[in-house]
Amino acid sequence: MLSNLATSQNFRKVDGIYLKDEAGVSTSGFYETKQKQIYDSRSESYKEHVKNSYPTSLGYNHLILTYREHLRWVKKLNLKTGDRVLDIGCNIGQLLHLMSHQAQIKGVGIDISIEALQSAKLNSTNDFDFVLCSIEKGLPFDDNSFDVITCMDVIEHLENPQFVLSEMKRVLKPGGRYLFHIPVTDIFLSLDWYYQKLLSKSFDKKMQLAGHFLEVMRTDKQIKEMIVASGLGITKSRRFNAFFQTIFDYHISHRILNRVFFIWKLPFKYYHLAMAPIVELFILLPDRLLQKLGIGSSSYYLGKK
Ligand SMILES: C[S@@+](CC[C@H](N)C(=O)[O-])C[C@H]1O[C@@H](n2cnc3c(N)ncnc32)[C@H](O)[C@@H]1O
Repeated sequence: MLSNLATSQNFRKVDGIYLKDEAGVSTSGFYETKQKQIYDSRSESYKEHVKNSYPTSLGYNHLILTYREHLRWVKKLNLKTGDRVLDIGCNIGQLLHLMSHQAQIKGVGIDISIEALQSAKLNSTNDFDFVLCSIEKGLPFDDNSFDVITCMDVIEHLENPQFVLSEMKRVLKPGGRYLFHIPVTDIFLSLDWYYQKLLSKSFDKKMQLAGHFLEVMRTDKQIKEMIVASGLGITKSRRFNAFFQTIFDYHISHRILNRVFFIWKLPFKYYHLAMAPIVELFILLPDRLLQKLGIGSSSYYLGKK
């Protein structure tokens, strides 16, 4: 049994995944139910991404530059052998996989989607644990039981992020580190801002597909206030998804290169290794300047308890 899983919660291990009910997570709120539906409905694409990109030593998915940036921030966590790491909203487990190349961590992934966790379990080359549960109901772990928490592109989906942040603080050990990446609503002058202004219908569709509902998303300032209110300290924060990176990742790589590489069945990792640094040199330099000016449609937050 996963040692820090709260015993009062009655989880059982079925096919390698800790869950309460084989029928899945029982959701209550509108947003919780929507997230479960959206992420469970992607089972075919999980298989495709896993088959084509997961087993590489890099562990990236199709969002090349976003995952390279995640990796840069992960390095700031200074992961050490034996660190207990909780990845919240782990989906098919790419981030855990990526982190396991930094240090021999004891990883736990938690997600609301059984389809995502089944792919994560199937492809995990490490002895990671996976827990099926909605974090809106709390984190089913003992107090002070993780050295590190990561939560990338998840907090913006939640109806009650303040409660979930206070749960994260509860389960982090004193001095424990965290890393969040969160899309925000104050996106002035970022690519998404132009997109929203000029192609509002298509922008709304993109938001729906991502499970983003503007009414529960927050500004960068509101997120910082919530983090501080939960009792966590912020060491470093910076904007991301300013302009060119979004064009490359979400349009060129996702729509064109991904398709071409998957059709040709060429090892995607060569693209990562050879091309991404060159592309990055040209398109991320201007983005860095924009981010410094506070322009971007998402932000990273790094800190500790
Ligand atoms: C945009 S994906 C991010 C996946 C992953 N963190 C990454 O960066 O590749 C959002 C993930 O959060 C999960 N999620 C959304 N709401 C959740 C909830 N209430 N409880 C647990 N997981 C949730 C979804 O199932 C999905 O896997």
